[in-house]
Amino acid sequence: MDVPIQIAVSGAAGRISYALLFRIANGGMFGADRPVALSLLEVPAALPMLDVIMMELEDSNFPLLRSVRASSDPAEAFAGADWVILTGGAPYRPGMNRADALRANAPIYLAQGRAINEAAKTARVVVVANPCNTNCLIAATTCRDVPHDHWFAMTRLDQNRARAMLAHKAGVNVDQVTRVTAWGDHGPSVFADFHNAWVGDRPAHEVIHDRDWVRDVFEPGVAGRGQVIHDVRGASPAASAAQAILGTVRSLTTPTPYGHWFSAGVVSDGSYGIPHGLVFSVPIRTDDGETWSVVQTHYLDGRAQARIAANAAELEQQAAIVSDFLPSRTMT
Ligand code: LMR
Repeated sequence: MDVPIQIAVSGAAGRISYALLFRIANGGMFGADRPVALSLLEVPAALPMLDVIMMELEDSNFPLLRSVRASSDPAEAFAGADWVILTGGAPYRPGMNRADALRANAPIYLAQGRAINEAAKTARVVVVANPCNTNCLIAATTCRDVPHDHWFAMTRLDQNRARAMLAHKAGVNVDQVTRVTAWGDHGPSVFADFHNAWVGDRPAHEVIHDRDWVRDVFEPGVAGRGQVIHDVRGASPAASAAQAILGTVRSLTTPTPYGHWFSAGVVSDGSYGIPHGLVFSVPIRTDDGETWSVVQTHYLDGRAQARIAANAAELEQQAAIVSDFLPSRTMT
């Protein structure tokens, strides 16, 4: 247990990382007993910023933080990583639409997939930067030596938003809301699953009877939350994204309580009729904190099935936009 866990973070000078690195160093990802080593990746122009972040990490005197290094070379930064957290992406430019963002990120995720393949074959990877499902698809498809079950696109932020809204509506503390699934693509299209969620020891639909609220407020509220925050701050949420990264890794490394699950974008094995090979958020659980499986017991009514199918169609469209970065998309 004294061997530090090696965590590489891309976009390390960005706002999400600034909210994340100090919490990892303080035990927020692997617990208060497990030493950690950080490897920070940034573009060359941002390396001076990494120097001062490293100064702040040092000045914080975290006993668990055994080493920190910085690089602008992905293979060097990822070398030996147990976990790779990819928060870095193409900078947003005014007027950029989804297709522009996909095309701008594709070469970055191709290069990062290659670097992980070269330098971190046993790593588990969480892709945070948007469009995170398709960024993850590109890197995972490129990275032939890292198993497909090591790749995750972060939809924990959608799950957390859904939990918060359900807790508010039911008038309970957030820890009373469990088993929340965010299906599909992170962000504006995500389908927040009310029907299979629980409030306390009862299914949510036995506690909250307001179906109009579910359809008109809850589902679009979860999907639109990032934009609401962006419109006021002029930037994407960073602190809640960092919290979601910590939650994703903690859930993947801690046995899931009996009967529970959590959400992550994973390479589809065809469960629930989702096309094989798409990176799609589904309910998953782990019994040993290492391997995971898709929870197969969700009841999906016709509307839920349609929302999931729409997400699949949209992700197929995204894959088509970057198809030249997916030379042989055979993920099964
Ligand atoms: C969010 O959902 O808050 C972010 O993923 C938004 C974004 O595009 O960064």
